[in-house]
Amino acid sequence: MKRILIIGATSAMAKGCARAMAEQGHSLFLCARKMAEIEELKHDLLARGAGSVSAMTLDINNLSRHKAVLETAYQELDGLDLVLLAHGTLPNQQQCEQNVDKTIEALQTNAVSSIAFLTRVANQFEQWGQGTIAAISSVAGDRGRQSNYVYGAAKNCLTTYLQGLRNRLDKAGVRVVTIKPGLVISPMTADFEKGPLWASADDVGRRMARVLLEGKQDVVYLPGFWRWIMMAICMIPETIFKRMSLG
Ligand SMILES: NC(=O)c1ccc[n+]([C@@H]2O[C@H](COP(=O)([O-])OP(=O)(O)OC[C@H]3O[C@@H](n4cnc5c(N)ncnc54)[C@H](OP(=O)(O)O)[C@@H]3O)[C@@H](O)[C@H]2O)c1
Repeated sequence: MKRILIIGATSAMAKGCARAMAEQGHSLFLCARKMAEIEELKHDLLARGAGSVSAMTLDINNLSRHKAVLETAYQELDGLDLVLLAHGTLPNQQQCEQNVDKTIEALQTNAVSSIAFLTRVANQFEQWGQGTIAAISSVAGDRGRQSNYVYGAAKNCLTTYLQGLRNRLDKAGVRVVTIKPGLVISPMTADFEKGPLWASADDVGRRMARVLLEGKQDVVYLPGFWRWIMMAICMIPETIFKRMSLG
């Protein structure tokens, strides 16, 4: 039975992941901004067979609360095996281009807050010599595009941070997993026109749980075909790519 902390636990993908984890009897500590939604999720997870479910509210941008959240999760779960960061926002690219504050806010929520939280988790897990750290980055971080490069830059920053962390913590026996979803149907993408490349958040979340609990991978594209799409996109020479307008 694993003891799991999820930040951004009410995200559509995190819910799918938590449901799969609960069905295997694992114990969960949920953090999100909306208590009513956390409570609803908590009941659902207990009904599915979770070993235990406890929760507390957290705005991840409130960095001064990170230490207390980690300590409380540790106490409630009687230890900690896995930490998953699933929070995120998709900023309006055009607004970011016109407004520095919006750009900084997007970088803060999607990169800085995660790095701040994981700095604490990493030191703790390194000291214990065990644990799994996972965070949801994005295929958007693999190559900057005019349609969402502020979000992409934040996710790229997170991806690079996780890569370095993995390189540091491998020798301590700590696993660091980077999850890169493609196009996923969730509240974040509610306004987007959907097509054949889109996956359901529940399905992606459940695949994520399998990777974290049973897999050995370091970097995971979800669904897996995004690895090949992004490989092809990254191979396009910059002189050509700069003239293209991918959505
Ligand atoms: N959907 C996609 O196509 C896609 C693709 C690649 C990667 N991703 C990434 O996948 C992750 C999950 O997103 P999703 O698609 O499942 O969307 P979602 O359902 O909209 O989830 C986003 C979650 O982030 C939380 N959040 C935002 N700001 C926060 C803050 N300051 N403190 C705490 N929680 C905060 C939101 O909480 P509130 O409800 O309180 O706002 C919400 O629960 C995100 O990291 C996203 O960037 C999504």
